[in-house]
Amino acid sequence: MQQPVHVSIIMDGNGRWATARGLSRSEGHAAGAESVRACCKAAIKAGVKYLSLYTFSQENWNRPTKEVEAIMGLMASNIISTMPEFEQNKVRFRVIGDMERLSPALQEQIKGAEDHTAENDTLTVILMFSYSGKWDIEQAAEKYAKAYAVAGGAPETPFESFLATAGVPDPDLLIRTGGELRISNYMLWQCAYTEFYFTDKLWPDFREADFLEALEEFKARDRRFGKVKR
Ligand code: IPE
Ligand code: IPE
Ligand code: MG
Repeated sequence: MQQPVHVSIIMDGNGRWATARGLSRSEGHAAGAESVRACCKAAIKAGVKYLSLYTFSQENWNRPTKEVEAIMGLMASNIISTMPEFEQNKVRFRVIGDMERLSPALQEQIKGAEDHTAENDTLTVILMFSYSGKWDIEQAAEKYAKAYAVAGGAPETPFESFLATAGVPDPDLLIRTGGELRISNYMLWQCAYTEFYFTDKLWPDFREADFLEALEEFKARDRRFGKVKR
C-alpha cells in the first residue's frame, strides 16, 4: 500500500462556514486554525513527512482590508500558540511565498519560528502564504535567467531548483475542501502528477477522520506517471 510523503491541502470554505452560522468571515478563518492543528496531528500519526497548506494566495490580497488584516493577525497569533506543540512533536515549521509583501514584524516572526524548528524532522509543516503558482514560476524564471547569463548558457541547476518549493518533494496527494473543483493558482508546476481529492466539507469541519479518509482513498490510486501499467 502506497503512503504519501507529501500531502497538500487547499483549505477552502472558511467564509461559507462562518456565514452559515451568522459569524464574520474572520471568525471562519479562526475556526479553520483548529482544523490545521487537527490535520498536523493526523499527519504525524500517519507518518506523512510534509504537510503543505494553502493558507493565503496572492489573489487573496485583493480581499477587503479588514479580512486581510484578520488573516495576518491570525497568522501571527497561531504561530505563537502552536510553537510549543511543534516543539514537543519535533515538527519543522516553514512558510513559502512572497514574504516581501508581509509586514516586517510578521516576516521576522516567521523567520524566528523557522529557525527555531529548523532541526526538527518528524513532519515539516509548510504554510503556503502570499503564494501562487504563477508567481512561483515567474520568480524562478527570473533567477534562472540570471543563472543563465552568469553561466553563458543553460545552468547545470535544473529549473525546479529555482522554485520557492526547492528541496520539497512534489505533493503526492492534494486535498481541496469546500466543494470547488479547481486549483486556484496553487502549485501549478509541482502538481504535475499529484493525485487530487475533492470534498464538499468546509475547511473548519475537516478534521482527523476526514484526513485519514483522504489517505485511504490515495492508497487505492493507481499512479502511472505516463508509463504503461505493468
Ligand atoms: C479559505 O476560505 C481561506 C482563504 C482563502 C484565506 P475562504 O475565505 O475562501 O472561504 P469561502 O470559500 O469564501 O467559503
Ligand atoms: C484558494 O481559495 C486559496 C486558499 C485556500 C488560500 P479561494 O477561495 O481564494 O479560491 P477561489 O477564489 O474560490 O478560486
Ligand atoms: Mg474560498
